[in-house]
Amino acid sequence: MISNSQCDSGISFVGCGSSTPQKIINNDQLGQRVDTNNEWIQSRTGISERRVIGDNESLIDLATDAALKAIRMANWDVKTIDLIILATSTPEDLFGSAPKIQSNLEASNAVAFDLTAACSGFLFALVTASQYLISGSMKRVVVIGADQLSKWVDWDDRKTCVLFGDGAGAVAIETSGEKNGLIGYDMKSDGSKGGCLNLSQANTFLDLVQGATHQKGEYLPIKMEGKEVYKFAVKEVPIILGELLDKYKIDSESIDWLLLHQANQRILDAVASRFSIPSEKVLSNLKDYGNTSAATIPLMLDEAVRGQRIKSGDLVACSGFGAGLSWGAALFYWHGPY
Ligand code: UT7
Repeated sequence: MISNSQCDSGISFVGCGSSTPQKIINNDQLGQRVDTNNEWIQSRTGISERRVIGDNESLIDLATDAALKAIRMANWDVKTIDLIILATSTPEDLFGSAPKIQSNLEASNAVAFDLTAACSGFLFALVTASQYLISGSMKRVVVIGADQLSKWVDWDDRKTCVLFGDGAGAVAIETSGEKNGLIGYDMKSDGSKGGCLNLSQANTFLDLVQGATHQKGEYLPIKMEGKEVYKFAVKEVPIILGELLDKYKIDSESIDWLLLHQANQRILDAVASRFSIPSEKVLSNLKDYGNTSAATIPLMLDEAVRGQRIKSGDLVACSGFGAGLSWGAALFYWHGPY
């Protein structure tokens, strides 16, 4: 666990971008495949439709597109980027997909690597990136959250298949002498509850040579104990956010936007009600995209910034949570040009 930390040297959030697949699958269409219906999905989750990567698209394309939009908003020369972190649990290459994005962007001076923390991935990547900026070792970082859970969902399991979708989002952050965008953060893990939500390897062993086997590289579809994960989220997210607000002596009334991992509208509403945050300040695009894992937070941020809801100087209370189990929170000011 990394404990809360005050960021004394300045970090500025200066760009964001997002990209989603073209193909939309609505709830009625899923009802033709599994025993579900629009009424159940909307009332239990808030989701109406989700996007799924088709054969003319790829996760790397979406991630590259999202990053490029963030870089353009920040008005950066790509050669000035020091680091690209791709938060994903669904890379196209298990050795890492970030270097391919670096190459697509022609960001030849940037080092690039993947980071895996499921639905907390973007928040963990943001905090990781901030360490390089705070230490002064880097000046400009692109943090991407992108996932293609449609590859790993069991499309015949109604308990999970209605929840997830594909997408990508990104932010551009840089050191700043005057403004400190990242007020504080906290991250936690509890591996003892990891069995509640898995995309785990299949235990298939094949003969290698006489007297020796090897494990086949193969993963099982996503499995989730939805109720357990729900209870975990509505318990832990208010605690971690509340501790951050207390630590930095910020009244919940000062929060301009509540930006949570988009897993379930009922979770968003429950957390908002714990802090008496009115629904107008709760960002949600679940109905359009479902749960895009590491992408939900930057995808939602980008939509709210480009839709001129989040404005420069606004205070955002953010929390990611999910498999691991893992969860985290950050308080930041948006300082982008919109
Ligand atoms: O991103 C990582 C974080 N993930 C999350 O935060 C997910 C957290 N969990 C949840 O959002 C909710 O638990 C779910 C949306 C997954 C499920 O909602 P729930 O209110 O906890 O439903 P449930 O699992 O308790 O199921 C209630 C009933 C069951 O039927 P019975 O046993 O009461 O007859 C299910 O079989 O609803 C049934 N059901 C469905 N019915 C129609 C479950 N899935 C469906 C479905 N359509 N898709």
